Amino acid sequence: MGENKTGEERLSTLLHNVNAVQAVASSVEGTIGPKGLDTMLVDENGNVIITNDGVTILEEMEVKHPAARMVINIARAQQDKVGDGTTTATLLAAALVSEGASQVSRGVPVAKVISGIRQGITKAVGILEKTAVRITSMDDEKLYHISLIAGREHEDIAHLIMEGAKLIGEAKMLENDFRFSDLVTAKEGADNEVIHGVLMNQRPLSKEMPEQIEDVKLLVLGDALAPEEVDDEALGTERGFQRYLDLKEGYTCNLQKLVALGINTVVVEKSCDSIAEEFCIDNGIMVLHRVSKADRQRVADHTGARTLKRTGLNKSVDELTRYIGRAKRVEFEETLGQVRIMHGAGKPTATMLIGASTEEVVGERERIAKDAASAMQACIRAGYLPGGGSIEIYLSHQIEQWRTSLKGMEGFGVEAVANALRKPLSQMVQNAGFNPLEKVEMVKAAQVESGTNSVGMDFDTGRCADMLQAGVVDPALVKIHALKTAGEVSQAILRIHTIIRMKSEEE
Ligand SMILES: Nc1ncnc2c1ncn2[C@@H]1O[C@H](COP(=O)(O)OP(=O)(O)OP(=O)(O)O)[C@@H](O)[C@H]1O
Ligand SMILES: [Mg+2]
Repeated sequence: MGENKTGEERLSTLLHNVNAVQAVASSVEGTIGPKGLDTMLVDENGNVIITNDGVTILEEMEVKHPAARMVINIARAQQDKVGDGTTTATLLAAALVSEGASQVSRGVPVAKVISGIRQGITKAVGILEKTAVRITSMDDEKLYHISLIAGREHEDIAHLIMEGAKLIGEAKMLENDFRFSDLVTAKEGADNEVIHGVLMNQRPLSKEMPEQIEDVKLLVLGDALAPEEVDDEALGTERGFQRYLDLKEGYTCNLQKLVALGINTVVVEKSCDSIAEEFCIDNGIMVLHRVSKADRQRVADHTGARTLKRTGLNKSVDELTRYIGRAKRVEFEETLGQVRIMHGAGKPTATMLIGASTEEVVGERERIAKDAASAMQACIRAGYLPGGGSIEIYLSHQIEQWRTSLKGMEGFGVEAVANALRKPLSQMVQNAGFNPLEKVEMVKAAQVESGTNSVGMDFDTGRCADMLQAGVVDPALVKIHALKTAGEVSQAILRIHTIIRMKSEEE
């Protein structure tokens, strides 16, 4: 009797978790695929976000349930690691949890279900890795298709990202800590543009400074442009005051060095005192102050400048030449409040500026462009797969066949994986207004008959279509990562009630 009750309690915890996870998934499922709609998020102050992006919706939602939070963390991890596919990952996890739970309800031991899920996911990931197709070069048209699909079919954005990618080059794209999507920025009122250089939201220190400079010689100061300080107490003593006068004289002398070096642009971490401001105005030097670390780093990399502290200005003019960065042009765009430093002599870089007409769409256009950029980088790193939910149907079928060769209860966990893999296509079909049961079967049958893994559905007509031929492709990394994280988290959630049972047994 007691045994039974524990069993029921276990199941009720599990079903409770399943419900919480389903609630999270259902808040994003309507956005997936080409016919997915947007969600409008509103807070109590009337702030509005309009988005189609899974992770953005989930991060803004108020969620207390711990299992539901774990699912939200999947979307976050997916965003951090690969930058796209957050909705797919969330839906897969929720489907795995509910398929797993229904196996448990049938009486399959949780441990067997979990082990089966783990095996099924490993198998599926292995198939994806084998099936992925590498791009042949940076001119491969698949790269354009990837960014078009991830960029919600905004052609202007896809072209822009493609142009930026070519400027950056394949080698840089493969660097581990380089995030191509960091180079995307959107601005209300701007035109779409790829800038061959660094773009900063900055204004020159004074209106009297030049707004355009050609043949740029630039200094980056990781400090303030002001004399070194003498503390108040020391100023009271004769020696301290003398030191103050010396520093001030040395400082004026240092400012003269800027002219001797031909410096016409100074990028400063902190502030700039009035003496320097006046001096720079008089000598036609543009000063950008309070520049963030990330921006200073990008400027230094792109122009070849070496960052200097203010005491560094005590060095001789000769020595200082080694710290100068160079670029073709610096330009201040008054209306956008942006400064561009272009065609630097250091490492090439690009900034992809996305224009938007209003405040509400600027955020979403930026997210879309960042998704497109992330997808493109992922594709360069590990290739592409047919999209539109087709590869998942292929996986599902492969896993089903493999399951027949397995002995033991783990097979039920494997079956849960095969079932969950139908979810992405099924949801996209539903969002397009067709019957998911009918269309998922149709696609599966067509794949089996034709022996290809790229048959999916044309979401306009409801008929079968080859996704590769239609240019519907997804980066392999996005798919692989989504599957792995969804697998890990669903196992963790299914395991939660195992822990509860153990505690109650101890009691
Ligand atoms: N024109 C299209 N035809 C068929 N499938 C498409 C088309 N455009 C996009 N898709 C598919 O839609 C899926 C991606 O949908 P979506 O971008 O809404 O979600 P996500 O990438 O999983 O998450 P998010 O973008 O919110 O982080 C991919 O499987 C992709 O192949
Ligand atoms: Mg997407």
